[in-house]
Amino acid sequence: MAIERTLSIIKPDATRRNLTGRIVAMLEEGGLRVVAQKRIHMTPAQAGAFYAVHKERPFYQELVEQMSAEPVVVQVLEGEDAIARNREIMGATNPADAAEGTIRKSFALSIGENSVHGSDGPDTAKTEIGFFFSQCEIVG
Ligand code: CMP
Repeated sequence: MAIERTLSIIKPDATRRNLTGRIVAMLEEGGLRVVAQKRIHMTPAQAGAFYAVHKERPFYQELVEQMSAEPVVVQVLEGEDAIARNREIMGATNPADAAEGTIRKSFALSIGENSVHGSDGPDTAKTEIGFFFSQCEIVG
């Protein structure tokens, strides 16, 4: 196992319900360290660019609207196997399929409003971290 970094987003459905602290606690208790974090309000153009990989999907427009409607908290998480570990802690994309004890099982409202995002692989993590953070903002 290697020490990795991954990009995490606490989404508007969670920030709206004041769940930021509880989600950070679940990430930390799961063995991940928050090495960068900021609360931002994305423009539709930013959210559209971040999720460009999904632009042909039927849910893209709604996703962009939801992600730019209210603030999000973007984070860099660090730890052993951080990319896979974060995905375990988050649970499945669809909360109906998420395991007990995961963030999405605990908090997600729907497949769209699923409380958190996490990078799905090393290349994506690098790109997604660079989308929101400069090197000097990440303090390991
Ligand atoms: P996320 O991990 O941020 O990656 C893409 C997002 O699109 C996903 O979480 C969901 O919030 C959203 N989404 C909405 N509908 C779907 C769907 N049918 N399948 C996958 N993702 C969806």
